[in-house]
Amino acid sequence: MPNEEYLDKSVHWKVRSGLIAFAEPAYREVAEAIVECGLATEVGQRLGSGKEADVYLCREGRRLLVVKAYRLYRTAHRGGRPIKLETMGQRALIEHDLLCYAWQGGARVPEPGRRVENMFSMQYLGTPASAAPMLQHAWLDDPEAFLRATVAGVEALAEAGVVHSDLSPFNILVHEGQPWIIDLASGIRVDRLGTPAWVRLSEALTAAAAGARALKRYFERYGLTLDVEDLMTRVRAKIDLFRVV
Ligand SMILES: Nc1ncnc2c1ncn2[C@@H]1O[C@H](COP(=O)(O)OP(=O)(O)O)[C@@H](O)[C@H]1O
Ligand SMILES: [Mg+2]
Repeated sequence: MPNEEYLDKSVHWKVRSGLIAFAEPAYREVAEAIVECGLATEVGQRLGSGKEADVYLCREGRRLLVVKAYRLYRTAHRGGRPIKLETMGQRALIEHDLLCYAWQGGARVPEPGRRVENMFSMQYLGTPASAAPMLQHAWLDDPEAFLRATVAGVEALAEAGVVHSDLSPFNILVHEGQPWIIDLASGIRVDRLGTPAWVRLSEALTAAAAGARALKRYFERYGLTLDVEDLMTRVRAKIDLFRVV
């Protein structure tokens, strides 16, 4: 059996007992898993495929939704070791949790659905004919207004207590003329206990500044300037209430 040494005992048991397959489940198997666990009644096309997860357009009855499924084995991590179900379940849990938190806090993110193991469902952004494009690939009719809405979106996320650590025009979708922030996979919840506040906050501010710079570069194509300093001052005011850093 390949890669045996990397797997822990519980996974050996599941492999032996046939509960999980060794090879990366192909589309049909993922689709079956999505339907079987009740996240959707029908699975359509794959909308996106990133480092660790695939996103599928699905239907639940007549409603369209998307399911993000973290891949169990084939990831872009170095080493290419098998990653076990528990780990990817944890990843899906973290992203789903952040999404719920951001959504409840009023940020413009897709409404979260349910999570089952390494998959979770959320609101579909787009029309029945086509999915919402990434900001990177969209053409904006009113870039100035969109820039203001994007800045407001980043602030709303901070207000909800979340900082996106991979903010870029690839993780913002243009839906109904508005910016929707997606892919909170490695977001930072600024009020989470566990690490000292100043560590968490300086991480969050570094990530927020990187995101703001990426957006600034993007809007330059329209000849617009995003004031990174100003945005950072406002994000800082929202997340660093007690002036820790
Ligand atoms: N809620 C959604 N509605 C429509 N399309 C989505 C939605 N979430 C993700 N997508 C599509 O799937 C792609 C990948 O999603 P993302 O969460 O960024 O995962 P990753 O970058 O880790 O693969 C996005 O670029 C987008 O095109
Ligand atoms: Mg992404």
